[in-house]
Amino acid sequence: MHRDIEKVFFSEEDIKKRVKELGKQISADYNGKNPLLIGVLKGSFVFLADLVRALDIHCEMEFVACSSYGAGTETTGTVTLTKALSLDITGRDVVVVEDILDSGVTINFLKEYLLSLNPASVKVCTFLDKPARRKKPFSADYVGYTCEDAFVVGYGLDYAEQYRNLPYIGVLKPEVYA
Ligand code: IMP
Ligand code: MG
Repeated sequence: MHRDIEKVFFSEEDIKKRVKELGKQISADYNGKNPLLIGVLKGSFVFLADLVRALDIHCEMEFVACSSYGAGTETTGTVTLTKALSLDITGRDVVVVEDILDSGVTINFLKEYLLSLNPASVKVCTFLDKPARRKKPFSADYVGYTCEDAFVVGYGLDYAEQYRNLPYIGVLKPEVYA
């Protein structure tokens, strides 16, 4: 285990097992379709890479990036798209792939935005869900794990851009933030 990690919440084995299950479920739900999976950068890149390899259907991938922070360090509550879509999603079955749902601000903005572009459908798949922290209600269509109210890193999730490469999800030792 990394020396900065205090506790592992979800091990590499837990994650592998759950991603396989999600892949089965999504493959069944989209059988015969060609969904467009839209990963929300940067956090979702690890989960998306594993998830698409657990799908046994035709699918395509796209990426967007969002920012809810202006110049400061506090969320402004206003989300901006920092990397827009590079293709037309009219009539497409879209599955948004997120690392974690926290306040719900980002995903509410993103879903509204995508729906305005006239896709056939929009569903949301998040690996982690922290419902305790919602500012705006939102419930995802596919959830890997519900997570307690703690700041977690690993499996794509960062603290100051570090720890995204950890193959498990855990919490940092308090002194790392000091
Ligand atoms: P929100 O739901 O609009 O608050 O934004 C969710 C985004 O905040 C996620 O996509 C992550 O990038 C980030 N985030 C939220 N909670 C955590 C956490 O525990 N660890 C790392 N990043 C987090
Ligand atoms: Mg994110």
